[in-house]
Amino acid sequence: MQTLLPILYLLAAAGFILAIKWMNSPVTARRGVVAGEIGMLLAVVGTLLRFEVVSYEWIFIAFFIGSAIGVPIAYYMPMTAVPQRTAFSHACGALASALIGTAEYYRQLPHGVVMVALVMETLLGYLTFTASLMAFGKLQEILPTRPLTYPGQNIVNLGIFSLAVAAGVALIFAPEQTWLFPIFTLLALVFGVLLIVPIGGADMPTVIALLNSYAGLSASAMGFALDNKLLIVAGALDGSSGFILAVIMCRAMNRSFSNVLFGAFGTIQKSAKETTERPVRSASPEEAAEILDSSRSVVIVPGYGMAVAQAQHKLRELSDLLTKRGIEVRFAIHPVAGRMPGHMNVLLAEANVPYDQLVEMDDINSEFPRTDVALVIGANDVVNPAARLDKSSPIAGMPILNVYEAHTVMVIKRSMSPGFAGIDNDLYYMSKTLMLFGDAKSFVTNIVKELNAAVPVSA
Ligand code: TAP
Repeated sequence: MQTLLPILYLLAAAGFILAIKWMNSPVTARRGVVAGEIGMLLAVVGTLLRFEVVSYEWIFIAFFIGSAIGVPIAYYMPMTAVPQRTAFSHACGALASALIGTAEYYRQLPHGVVMVALVMETLLGYLTFTASLMAFGKLQEILPTRPLTYPGQNIVNLGIFSLAVAAGVALIFAPEQTWLFPIFTLLALVFGVLLIVPIGGADMPTVIALLNSYAGLSASAMGFALDNKLLIVAGALDGSSGFILAVIMCRAMNRSFSNVLFGAFGTIQKSAKETTERPVRSASPEEAAEILDSSRSVVIVPGYGMAVAQAQHKLRELSDLLTKRGIEVRFAIHPVAGRMPGHMNVLLAEANVPYDQLVEMDDINSEFPRTDVALVIGANDVVNPAARLDKSSPIAGMPILNVYEAHTVMVIKRSMSPGFAGIDNDLYYMSKTLMLFGDAKSFVTNIVKELNAAVPVSA
């Protein structure tokens, strides 16, 4: 056992690292999931062998209850609900970590370094638990999605957090003061709720990546408290990958952490332009089909609206039809199009769009001046030229897809209403732009119908 356990743990850690590596690309993502699962299995087996198991019955009962909840969620949950599902699993993971910390505290009243680790574990665990539940509620729209703010909010939040930290420090110096532990727990739980209140629903994916990082740090601290090296490694991997993901998302939106956490982004922006009535040109599915049919290159730009309308399968049909007609079709992927990282990649992969047709922003941007038609589907902020041209815009500096450089731009959306950032989009008023008003799925369906009704393609 003495030699087997380190080997099992080492293999498990390798499985986790390979999982993260392989999940980098859709081509190897499945392999990554399997590597992660094998790693987790080895970790569980190793841990069961390591400790004197008091009751296998309870472990099996927990295993079956967990599976009975987890398996149906994985099968039946729609792809658009992935952010809230992730928030929910973070809540469960963080609660587990915090409860183990609590049990260990009362079991051994530890001193010194172990108590420091235990305080960190429970503080991060409890605050991540309530914060993740709040994030789940906002994403599922059970709670109001708008940021709820009031004067002095940041001071109140900072005050509660400081009190929780002070209680934790007091417990490190005097662990036998058991009366303080419930107060410390309550402060951490309340802080988790207050942290999320001022953040808008649409910023939740970034917040979830951060919470992922906290939950990982909590698990890592638990590794120190329980003297379990694999937990330290797995928690550190979780903590750092969540943090890196949050940094990538903030960069792609050109926003700072403090802007996401305290900026109350998502409150309705009042801009002068928003109210001006400027003329726009619109077109029917028939006209859109004709323009597409007479082009040589088309770049499709999907966004949040495509996800809402679940238009990816129809879009694939459209792309196949155009390709058969000898038209070059590519999909331009903006890193934060939609509401979670990789949102567009996942949906287009679900519709079997070939990976080589998906082109990242940095690679496609230089292609727009040579593109006949840029077809924007339910995307708004990620194609807004204001990010480049208007320094006072809330999205100033955010990298965008340069669709305004294409010869013709067609935009499918239901109305002139703004996207996530709440601002008007000058792209819609350009003379080269045609607005295709309607639901993304039904509009694309109609274009496909028109193309099919036109002269059939010779096989
Ligand atoms: P948005 O700017 O939010 O625009 C989506 C557009 O889709 C809306 O203007 C809406 O217009 C349209 N739409 C909604 N339902 C539709 C339907 N059924 N059919 C057709 N159109 C529909 O989306 P985006 O361009 O993808 O940008 C993403 C935004 O989310 C960015 O501001 C980004 O910073 C933010 N964000 C992203 C992430 C990640 S990681 N992806 C995380 C946090 C925040 P109508 O109502 O007129 O139809």
